[in-house]
Amino acid sequence: MQLPDEAITYHYQSLLVPAAEDWTAAAELRARHCVSQAELRDLTPRLMQVRSQVAAERELRQVPAELQPLHAGFIDLPQRYLDHYRRHGDDSELGRILVQASRLRDDVDRVVLLGIGASYLGPRALFEALKPLYHNEMPPDARLGAPRLYFAGNNLDTDALQDLLDLLQQTCVEPELRGERWGVIVVSKSGDTLETAAAYRALRREAVEYYGNHWERLRQLIVPVTGPHGKLRDLCRADGYREDEVFTIPEDVAGRYSVFSPAGLLPAAVLGLDVRALLLGAAAMTRRFLDEPFERNPVLQYAGLNHLLTTAHAKPMRVLAVWSRKLEALGQWYDQLLAESLGKQGQGATPLTAVQTRDLYARGQLHQEGPRDKVINNLVVKTPRTPPIMIGMADRNQDELNQYSRKGLPDLVDAALQGANRAYAEVARPTADLVLPLLSEHVLGQLMQMLMLATVVEGRLLGINPYGQPGVEAYRRHMRAALKG
Ligand code: PA5
Repeated sequence: MQLPDEAITYHYQSLLVPAAEDWTAAAELRARHCVSQAELRDLTPRLMQVRSQVAAERELRQVPAELQPLHAGFIDLPQRYLDHYRRHGDDSELGRILVQASRLRDDVDRVVLLGIGASYLGPRALFEALKPLYHNEMPPDARLGAPRLYFAGNNLDTDALQDLLDLLQQTCVEPELRGERWGVIVVSKSGDTLETAAAYRALRREAVEYYGNHWERLRQLIVPVTGPHGKLRDLCRADGYREDEVFTIPEDVAGRYSVFSPAGLLPAAVLGLDVRALLLGAAAMTRRFLDEPFERNPVLQYAGLNHLLTTAHAKPMRVLAVWSRKLEALGQWYDQLLAESLGKQGQGATPLTAVQTRDLYARGQLHQEGPRDKVINNLVVKTPRTPPIMIGMADRNQDELNQYSRKGLPDLVDAALQGANRAYAEVARPTADLVLPLLSEHVLGQLMQMLMLATVVEGRLLGINPYGQPGVEAYRRHMRAALKG
């Protein structure tokens, strides 16, 4: 298979016990805390078997009770959307997403995205990774027609929601001007999540007050994304939405695996991101997962190595150390994916996102010398999107930086990464690098699909169903009971 130039790679050699190492205290520690070649060799047939199982689960029409719930639809969804788009253009799901996104871009200068859990974290990860960090503060021209994007409905904080309403009220006073119009994308697969529903009610009220109670008009400014059934869909019908005005998260795609459904694609398209490149990246990763041997298969490598470290080497803490501030939200998305998928039956690694080098000054000490309960996966971007900011020469050299004048910030990042990895290796703290060639739609598509597939593989290795979230359902049930009580 011809891999695209932008393929991501997992450098896991440093997680392995070196082949022939003389005895030293450090070598002894490495033998205990890293994965041996034999362990990896023994796991490989099981990994291959799990891959076949996951591949077969995509085809199941009648799901046996022991596999329920099964939401394997996300695996083929990117390619399916691309194929339909090629054949049916604007009439395909992707075509409709693109048309609606461009309407919303034409209509409003601010969009509020309501959603919680995956319905919020996926779009936010794309927003922060692929748009400028200060997108919302930029003047309209610099945003190239993309609206500002705000997130709400992801908590029950009255002050936070009021702050947003105040912002809308104070900046938007003339609904006839595009620059003072705002819209809403409300995302809830179940359509039954109180956080999102309560915020939606408040925003609906606000919209009626601002634009008037004209649902013909409001239906153009408020775009719902939900599952095939549920209270949100019922409410939309009551508001007069046609079926094709409500975007559908397919039944067989679960919330935290839904970033390449309309839940993530619509906000991405509204922001002007290249959603076809996102889908191409995701589809390429699915093919790599299904076709490639272990040596070229980052899904199997990541799942296998991290599984062994968690289960056989007592490393219950999974640190994703992102070496770009722009990947912090991606880290939070992965936190939720891993925690909610595998935190079941007394098992599952605890995810933790660190933003480097910032958090080297917060958690670095703990990672270096604290409990030996962590595996660290560095998420590294090889080439920044913008030209390097150089240290440069200065007349006053009291800070002694002139010696580095020809270096740029990316050189400092390289040095810091090497420094951290060497320091961890010296004391046998297992650390690997997941390398992204750059931050682009195609790369983010690969990365997110890779982490979703790896989570499913890890679940199957553990004997845990990676879909469903019975623990969260318990919280929701008790909360509703408490409200009624
Ligand atoms: O992964 C999941 O299914 C959950 O995290 C959901 O995304 C979260 O509970 C929000 O649910 P909903 O989209 O149904 O409002």
